[in-house]
Amino acid sequence: MIVLKHAKDYNEMSKMAYSFVKNVVKNNENAVLGLATGSTPIGLYKEMIADYNAGEVSYKNMVSINLDEYVGLPVEHPESYRSFMNTNLFNHVDIDKANTHVPNGLAENVEEACKEYTDFIKAHPIDIQILGIGANGHIGFNEPGTPFGSTTHLVELKEKTRLDNARFFEGDINKVPTHAVTMGLQDIMEAKQILLLASGANKAEAVRDMVYGPISPDCPASVLQLHENVIVVVDEAAGYYLKA
Ligand code: GLP
Repeated sequence: MIVLKHAKDYNEMSKMAYSFVKNVVKNNENAVLGLATGSTPIGLYKEMIADYNAGEVSYKNMVSINLDEYVGLPVEHPESYRSFMNTNLFNHVDIDKANTHVPNGLAENVEEACKEYTDFIKAHPIDIQILGIGANGHIGFNEPGTPFGSTTHLVELKEKTRLDNARFFEGDINKVPTHAVTMGLQDIMEAKQILLLASGANKAEAVRDMVYGPISPDCPASVLQLHENVIVVVDEAAGYYLKA
C-alpha cells in the first residue's frame, strides 16, 4: 500500500522524510539502511547529519546498502555514487565505512559481483529503503521494461536518463556513463519499508503513473503498488496530479 504525504516544498519534503527515517534509526541501532543518490535525497541526508550532530542518533552499528553505481567511473571520480555518498552523508556521521555498500561499477566479473550484491541484500534485510524516481519512472537504475523479478544487474542507461544526469557532468551527455549496475526491482521490493521522495514538476507524471497507473514495467515504480509499506513524500509540484 502506498501512503501519500504532501509537503509544500523541497525543504519540508526533506524534513518529513527524516521523520520516517528517524523512527527507524532511533529504535534500532543495528538498522540496515537502503540509500539512494541524486539531488532528491540530499536534503534528507542534511537532516540526518544535523540530528547526528545534535547527538540524537549514532550510525556506528548500522549497515547501508546503496541502490546503484555507474559502470567505469573510478570510485574517486566526484560523480561516482560512492563519492556522492561519502560527500553527502558518510563523511559526516559515525557510520563505519566498512559497513557501507555501493555496487561495484568496476568489477571484472560483473555478473558475479551482481549476484554477490543480491546475496548480501538477502542476508541483510533492509529496514528502510530510500528512493528517488526518474522522470521516466525508473527507481535505482531500473529503466522502463525491467522485469519485476530482476535482481542486481548491469543496465544500459536510456538516453533520457543520461540527459537528465548530464547536469552533473558539465552538461555533457557524452561524459555520462552509458551503463550502470543497479539493485533489481525484486531486491528493492524485499525492503521492509520503502520511502520514496519526489520534488519538482518534472517528476509529476512519473509520480502519477507510479501511484495510479497500471502496474507495469513501462513504469518501473508502479511495482511499489504491490508493496505493503510504502510512503511517498512529494512536494507540491511533484504531487500536482495526486488527489490526496
Ligand atoms: C538517478 C538515480 C536514481 C534517482 C533518479 C532521480 O539517475 N539512479 O536513483 O532516484 O535518477 O534523480 P534526481 O533525484 O537527481 O532527480
